[in-house]
Amino acid sequence: MRRLLVTGGAGFIGSNFVRYWISCYPDDRVVNLDALTYAGNLENLREIETAPGYRFVHGDITDRDCVDRLFAEEAIDTVVNFAAESHVDRSILGPEAFIKTNIQGTFVLLEAARAAWQGEAQDRRFLHVSTDEVYGSLAPEAAAFTEQHRYAPNSPYSASKAASDHLVRAYHKTYGMPVLTTNCSNNYGPYQFPEKLIPLVILNALEGKPVPVYGDGMNIRDWLYVDDHCSGIDAVLADGRPGSVYNIGGNNEWHNIDIITLICERLDNLQPGQGSYQDLITYVKDRPGHDRRYAMDARRMQTELGWTPQHDFPEGLEETLKWYLDNLEWCDRVRTGEYRKYYATQYGEEAL
Ligand code: NAD
Ligand code: TYD
Repeated sequence: MRRLLVTGGAGFIGSNFVRYWISCYPDDRVVNLDALTYAGNLENLREIETAPGYRFVHGDITDRDCVDRLFAEEAIDTVVNFAAESHVDRSILGPEAFIKTNIQGTFVLLEAARAAWQGEAQDRRFLHVSTDEVYGSLAPEAAAFTEQHRYAPNSPYSASKAASDHLVRAYHKTYGMPVLTTNCSNNYGPYQFPEKLIPLVILNALEGKPVPVYGDGMNIRDWLYVDDHCSGIDAVLADGRPGSVYNIGGNNEWHNIDIITLICERLDNLQPGQGSYQDLITYVKDRPGHDRRYAMDARRMQTELGWTPQHDFPEGLEETLKWYLDNLEWCDRVRTGEYRKYYATQYGEEAL
């Protein structure tokens, strides 16, 4: 039986992970520490909120007293750190929160774990959830990122994640902390906040709003279904070598414009509107510092841990589209006043 501290468990990947973990390991303790920013939503966890081993704590990972208290009260032996500011466009508009949560927050968690696990860290695990974006941008024909690829972050978001990765690494080298880092490609699936590409395209299309394509639409992302990310983290916690880094990816590269067109085509089929949703596709100004291509080489996950993604993309995307169509009220509820303000700044008042 393990005793997990999951941070950011009310967000997109964190809430999918909490559900995944409780269904796979119902006897484990799962303490979910989340500050409930605009991106965190307890509704995402309704299915499991009464599960016997589950506890939600409303708190901030930068609050050392709160984190120390949880380590002591709950005898935490495993940390899975999802909590972060996670959206590149927001990091361009206002980087400060990214520095605080992503860097300072990770530092606080590491210090609290180091203090709590002193001298008996052997069976403990501190898993830090990171991103492919720390490696920067790949040329079209370049080989996918391996774990040895040099760090070259280009946005305040990826730079803050890179800084936190370095701290995690240093705590292993210097203090022997049993850390693990996973760098994952773009996730998609249910409960993703509709500021990110796939849900934003779905909802804008259904609402008859412009579907914004940054730049020439030829940027490439490597998409992974969120459950596959969860099973990857599970595999790394079970058998990953402390101090190691694992790249997780879907081997599933798509140009943005192709994925946007595909979503519009599938929606034409699932929920026909007047005309094709493709007519809403609108090219807009590019994102500053927009990384051209990400692609993950996840062979270490396969050869060392036997992990491979289980969801193929057309099937995962179809499930995701259906989930959004069935949960339009959830979408309305998470798009609060704060989100509308962000949307107007990012896309212009007229796009509202
Ligand atoms: P998200 O923005 O949906 O959720 C983040 C969660 O963290 C929210 O519940 C929020 O309330 C919480 N949070 C924010 N600041 C906090 C703080 N100071 N203290 C406690 N909780 C706080 O993010 P996501 O997409 O689920 O990403 C989760 C993690 O996975 C992040 O670390 C991100 O960098 C990483 N990641 C995401 C992707 C992706 O495609 N979404 C890909 C690779 C890695
Ligand atoms: P996003 O979901 O923000 O993830 P990330 O930037 O972390 O990869 O964006 C995915 C890709 O889609 C990225 O190349 C930017 C692009 N994009 C658009 O073209 N239009 C949009 O409205 C958004 C949100 C993203």
